[in-house]
Amino acid sequence: MKRKKFELEEEIIDYGKILFLRNSVEKSPLCLLKEVSIKNKEDAIGRALRIIHDIFRELFLLKVDFKNIEPAHGLGHMVRDYLHAINLFQTGNYEPKSIFVGMIAGALHDIGCILIHRYDEKNRAVRHAEIGALLIQDILDNLNVNDSEKKLIAYAIAAHTHYINTEKIECRDGVKRTRYSYVDMVNQKPFELVYFPRWVDRLDCNGPAFVARHYLTLVKNHEDFEGDRFHKINSFLERMKPFSREKTGHPTMLSHLDMFASSQNNKNIYGKYDYGFMIQVRNFHKILMERTINLVLSGKGKYDYDEDELINTWTIFLQQNIEPTESGKNGSLILEKKFRKLNKNVKKIWANGFIETMIQYIKWSDYHLRLSEKWSQEWFEIPYYCKDIRKVMILNKNSQNFIDNKIKILRKED
Ligand SMILES: [Fe+2]
Ligand SMILES: [Fe+2]
Repeated sequence: MKRKKFELEEEIIDYGKILFLRNSVEKSPLCLLKEVSIKNKEDAIGRALRIIHDIFRELFLLKVDFKNIEPAHGLGHMVRDYLHAINLFQTGNYEPKSIFVGMIAGALHDIGCILIHRYDEKNRAVRHAEIGALLIQDILDNLNVNDSEKKLIAYAIAAHTHYINTEKIECRDGVKRTRYSYVDMVNQKPFELVYFPRWVDRLDCNGPAFVARHYLTLVKNHEDFEGDRFHKINSFLERMKPFSREKTGHPTMLSHLDMFASSQNNKNIYGKYDYGFMIQVRNFHKILMERTINLVLSGKGKYDYDEDELINTWTIFLQQNIEPTESGKNGSLILEKKFRKLNKNVKKIWANGFIETMIQYIKWSDYHLRLSEKWSQEWFEIPYYCKDIRKVMILNKNSQNFIDNKIKILRKED
């Protein structure tokens, strides 16, 4: 049954729908792939973009807004996913049918966060990935895709979280449900359309935007997955200690960034099947993020700055570039107050880290702007949600002036 509004059903109903989706894809994934009606790469990208835009129009009609999404999974993440998806698949050389599915699923993989808070899903078997898959599946009923395409797109969204183990979950309705890993290998080869949305997602868990995006999650105490399990995020003060986890005994912002940076390689379970242009973009993002990590870890003050001006500039960066919604605005203002209360030394170290992040952000956006020179004009608009994504991706004028005027050493460096 079609959802008229974005509302959660009881978990038992949605879980049944997910089992049905899984069963219909997993029994014959390659047969479904054969049914994807795509001739070549150009066709894949053009058609995927038209469908993505149609989905956003439908989302608008369903009155979806990003006001209540927590700030790391809102419009900012979605704009960067959209940007990364186009650049990755337009420049890279990948199989066209998988590009078609992977690009749509990549751009929309976190849409389920509208209904299920990313940090509030521990006691659910239907999580943000699964509910996002069901929503998009409903929307695709009205659009120009065939049944196999619809199932594969929904499946690729559900599978983006890349569960490695089977887990028994005690759900909030008292029922125990099993969460199995999704099928991502077919005939001993990676099933690329499942990996592509994961790639897109990983590109925003890596790079200067991720430093700021992760910082925005510190607005509330929540539980986050790190290493092997969910950890209660302790106070802002504890998280901002500019040390590694070994030194503090608990996860810090720095250890979290480092965990993501150091997993960006082909030895890691998540990056194991990266190839082609993905490796190039991934490595570039990683180098940019490591510059902030290394500077903070060194504890050195590299830049001169006025504290009020820096805090103001960083807050504007969070609001206009990283999460340009009400939720980003509110979060950044709360964090601004918390940041001011940190001790002088910690504040100085992170102030340097923030400046470094904005400088690296310029490099990130220049890189993606260059790639987007190949885009058709209409791709820059996400209907109803973002008139021109360059407004989000290019560092806002205020922060740009701050970097240009105050930080003179930098330009000469790299
Ligand atoms: Fe996600
Ligand atoms: Fe994501």
